[in-house]
Amino acid sequence: MLRPPHSRYRRLHVYHLSLAAMPEIDDPDYIGGWLEDGTAILFFHADRDREIKGLCREKGCQVIYQAEMDYEDWEAGLAVESFSCGGLTFSPVWEKSGADIVIDPSVVFGSGFHPSTRLAIEGMCDLLAQRPGIESMLDLGCGTGILAVAAAKKGVRRITALDNNPLACRVAERNAAANRTEITVIEADLRKDEPDAEVDLLVANLYHALLVELFGRKWFWRPRFHLIAGFIPAMEEELLAALPDPPPRFLDRRRQDRWCMWLLQSPSS
Ligand SMILES: C[S@@+](CC[C@H](N)C(=O)[O-])C[C@H]1O[C@@H](n2cnc3c(N)ncnc32)[C@H](O)[C@@H]1O
Repeated sequence: MLRPPHSRYRRLHVYHLSLAAMPEIDDPDYIGGWLEDGTAILFFHADRDREIKGLCREKGCQVIYQAEMDYEDWEAGLAVESFSCGGLTFSPVWEKSGADIVIDPSVVFGSGFHPSTRLAIEGMCDLLAQRPGIESMLDLGCGTGILAVAAAKKGVRRITALDNNPLACRVAERNAAANRTEITVIEADLRKDEPDAEVDLLVANLYHALLVELFGRKWFWRPRFHLIAGFIPAMEEELLAALPDPPPRFLDRRRQDRWCMWLLQSPSS
């Protein structure tokens, strides 16, 4: 996340360490990090070779991989800048633009530039306009919290956003506060944890294998409406086959740059 003296991301220095627990790092150049498969991935604004060597000596770990790159390369080669989508304007925090929503994308998913995020924002905003009764939402795999913040700006009153990446959770909390929205952020792993799905709308922009797994869970189908995204046309067949019986009703089905989005309504509503 951004904190003084930094007001934007330029270069990223990434250290991947054989560490099973996150180290305490008190450094203004530290952006954040997370654990992945028993290793720690740490992001800094500047070179921290000397400090990382010291950390490895102290903890008895090793550098598995290290890289330095432009922030734009981390963001798939795209400049993160203002854009409009779903009737809302979005802006990264470093642009003083008066946008409806400001986002610190940090180094987690959800800057708004991925077609899947755009499709989800558009589909969600259209659904909220067509169904004014939607008052609560669960955002599964919230990343930066961009979808949750957009839903709050569109009037959804009770929103829970969930991610298994602790940095994404902190970033989503920060983005919710920066946009003066009240969103409950929960750190949880959807492969084992069952969130409270007593909501009107469930939004899931997730990788397709996890979607297939979640389609098999009873709690996943509790909400009246579902927005499903994060998959490409070649994966649709497998997802269709994983839908429950009786299947939900398709309200909408869209594609953008080879990414797909479904809007579903439960058969009992
Ligand atoms: C494609 S990103 C979507 C981010 C944001 N909602 C958007 O639309 O731009 C998927 C998110 O799901 C999270 N995720 C992946 N596996 C997860 C799991 N097992 N439990 C919870 N969150 C998970 C990732 O950390 C990531 O932030």
